[in-house]
Order: sequence, then structure tokens, then C-alpha cells
Amino acid sequence: MGNTMTTTPQFVTESGPDSLAARARDHLWMHFTRHSVYYDGGHVPVIVKGDGCYIWDDQGRRYIDGLAGLFVVQVGHGRKELAAAAAAQAEELAFFPVWSYAHPRAIELAERLAAYAPGDLNRVFFTSGGGEAVETAWKLAKQYFKMTGKPTKHKVISRSIAYHGTPQGALSITGIPPAKIPFEPLVPGGVKVPNTNFYRAPEEYRYDEKAFGLWAANRIAEAIEFEGPDSVAAVFLEPVQNSGGCFPPPPGYLERVREICDQYGVLFVADETITAFGRIGDMFAMNRFGVVPDMITCAKGMTSGYSPLGAMIASDRLFEPFTKGSNAFLHGYTWGGHPVSAAVAMANLDIFEREGINQHVLENEGAFRSTLEKLRDLPIVGDVRGAGYFFGIELVKDKVTRETFTDDEAERLLRGFLSKALFDNGLYCRADDRGDPVVQLAPALIIGQKEFDEIEQVLRQTLTEAWTIL
Ligand SMILES: Cc1ncc(COP(=O)(O)O)c(C=O)c1O
Repeated sequence: MGNTMTTTPQFVTESGPDSLAARARDHLWMHFTRHSVYYDGGHVPVIVKGDGCYIWDDQGRRYIDGLAGLFVVQVGHGRKELAAAAAAQAEELAFFPVWSYAHPRAIELAERLAAYAPGDLNRVFFTSGGGEAVETAWKLAKQYFKMTGKPTKHKVISRSIAYHGTPQGALSITGIPPAKIPFEPLVPGGVKVPNTNFYRAPEEYRYDEKAFGLWAANRIAEAIEFEGPDSVAAVFLEPVQNSGGCFPPPPGYLERVREICDQYGVLFVADETITAFGRIGDMFAMNRFGVVPDMITCAKGMTSGYSPLGAMIASDRLFEPFTKGSNAFLHGYTWGGHPVSAAVAMANLDIFEREGINQHVLENEGAFRSTLEKLRDLPIVGDVRGAGYFFGIELVKDKVTRETFTDDEAERLLRGFLSKALFDNGLYCRADDRGDPVVQLAPALIIGQKEFDEIEQVLRQTLTEAWTIL
């Protein structure tokens, strides 16, 4: 496993001292970024325009946006309808909070999300993004148990290499040590269990996905027993885990997690920050997998990125104590349920319905998968996995033994070569080593075979070159 969280590519392009790139280097603090790269002759890539699944940089070059920005731009860039929805709302009511007051767009959107959400997840708490939604879910779990006679339940179980955001609670839930170490001590009570990377399953489960799923789910029961059921409030997991490179749930896994949570009185929180809003072909991936959690956290694709918004959606049972007496959830965000963002979300979801975006993903995910699977003939491609429009390609040193790269090799391969080469060859995506090295793809949900082929060709060319530099 790599020892860093950054995926800063080493771009080197000519640029003048007054260029946007130079000004970015001098004043913009980029997130999860090694800034030294830009002081050592690197050039900050500056993206100035988007249209559909393509983006353009300040040098006029076009790229396919293989990551939908950051798992966000579901309906594609350049939708005037969404810009118009934002403008109309800003003219009518630019801002009002949802602190003891309501406004029409927040009401309509809460009702709509509740209708899309599984089971009786009917209560929507808006946030500005995914990390705040995760933070909110943990706080609700703690308070719920305090209000219902189980005040010692506070810990959270989550999975190794999973990313759940940067607030200190969400970071405790995150399972990526390098992302946490600089900020420790974090909120106590974050307990980690194995994820569902079938490619890296223990030897005895390598050929039986169902048995592996059962084994992985049972590690949650084991952790609850070990920590003490009276201390555990919730299990947080993504239906398809992003970090580490797209781990879908093995058959039976989510059902078994639900069973374990019920057995121990532990809440099941599905972190759908990435997987909601069509990424897996449904408004919520949990609908597709047929398991009802107690809470869902979501953000990103809700507005397709035309304005920021997140939400925690809770079941009726979790809200019930808050309907009584002086009880209140003393928690909130100024921007939560922002009218402009809520209006954009409504317009975005209108596009989903009108254009059948989820159906499109369901109809085309097989073609996307089989196009990427062609890359398996390359010596560096160990695994291709994922679901919906969400795939990871794991890179290996030896396909037969599944041997991965050393930290130094991963550093040279991912940062020294791949990120930049993919970008230079016209594909923006993510080369990541938060687990074993992977290339991750999560394009806009509107693309089809032509763009699948384009992505495959850039990957083929670049991964072929990558093998020669090792
Ligand atoms: C699963 C998951 N949870 C939480 C977050 C944090 O979301 P945000 O960056 O909006 O705070 C992310 C961000 O990528 C995520 O992928």
C-alpha cells in the first residue's frame, strides 16, 4: 500500500509568470495536493470549460472527463437548464436557512429524495457535502441511542481503505491511515474491518465470491463482539467501495450485514456519496442491491455538481424520538439545503427522469465493462471490477501471482508517469494508490460505446507505455 494520499501528477508544460497556472501555484491551496511539484517546474492543470463528457484546459486541449469531475457530473457538463434553474432561484430567494424555517425547494427536494430512498427512509437532513453527511449520521446515531436508553453505544465500524470524508468524525470512520495520521488524535471509536476486494480475498475464498462475502460480513459481527455490542452504534459502508478501486458487494454480503446489524441493535449507514444518483443505475445503489439501511448519506451527483449539496436520509424510527417534547438534534450547517442548490437538484433529477439516465446506465454498464475488460490482455492489468458506470482497474507487477508494486514503484508508476500520461493522452481519470494501485473511472452517465472505446484506447496506449518504464 502506498504511503501517501495525494495523487498529484507531475505536469510539466510551458507557462508564463502571469498564466493562470502560475497564479494557481502562487495562491491557490489545492486539496490533497503535493505543491512541491509545481515549484519544481510542474504546471498546474487549469480546466476552463466543460461540455457533455469533455473538458478543456487553458491551453485549449480537450480531454474526456473519465471521473465526472470527482464522481459528480452525472448528466454531463454544460447543461444550460441547470444554470438557468440556479439563476431563477437566486433571483427569487437566494438564501434562507432550514434552521426552524423551511423554503419550497428544500421541502420539494426532501419529499423527492424520500420517495426515491428505500424502505422508510423518509427524513432528509441537508448538508453541504458528503463528509458533513457522514458526520451528521454518526452524530445522529449517538444521540438516537442516548435518547432511547442505550447511552453507551457510540462506536462506528467501517472498512479498510474506505474514504468517508475529512471532518474529524468522518476521518475516524475513514480507513486510510495516511489520511488520518497527520490529524490524530481523531474522534475515538472508529473500528476497522476488511473490505470486499475479492481480487485480494484470503486464499481460501479466492474462488467463491459468496463465501468471501459471508466471511467479510462476519468480520463485522466479530468486531461488534470484540468491542462489546453495547458500545457500537453503527456500521458505515459504501455499497460499492470507491477507495482501493471499486469493490462491489459480493452476493449476500449486504443482506448479511443487515442481519448482523439487526442482531446487535447496530445502525446500518450506507454512504452513497458516490454511488447514489445513477452511478450504479438507480437513484440509490441500495435500491439496486435490495437491502434497506437505517441511514443513507449522499451528495455529489444530487446536483450533478452545478451547485454543492449533501444529505443524510434517516428512517422514521430514527426520527421518531425527535418528534417529542423538547428533544432536538442540535446540529446544522448554514449552507445545508441551500435554495439554489436544492433548485439545481430538482432540475437535475428532472433530467434524470426525462432522459432515463438510470435506465441508460443499466443498459450500457455491460458494454462499458466488456470494453474495459479488453485491457486484461495487457501484462499490467490484474483486475477490472465495478458496477454501473464505476470501474477500477487494478495494476500489478505479475498477473499470475497478483504481486503488487513496492511503494517506490507505485510512486514512479502513478505519480511519475501514469497520471500525467493519461492526461496528456486525453483522459482525465484517477490513478490511485490508497490501496493497491488502480486506475479509476466514473464518467458522466450519458456516455455510450463511442466514448467507452475512446477511454479504452487511451488506457491501452498509456498502460502499454507504463509497462515499459517499470
Ligand atoms: C464515500 C464518500 N464519503 C464521503 C465523502 C466526502 O464528501 P465531501 O468531499 O463532499 O465532503 C466522499 C468524497 O469523495 C466519498 O467518496
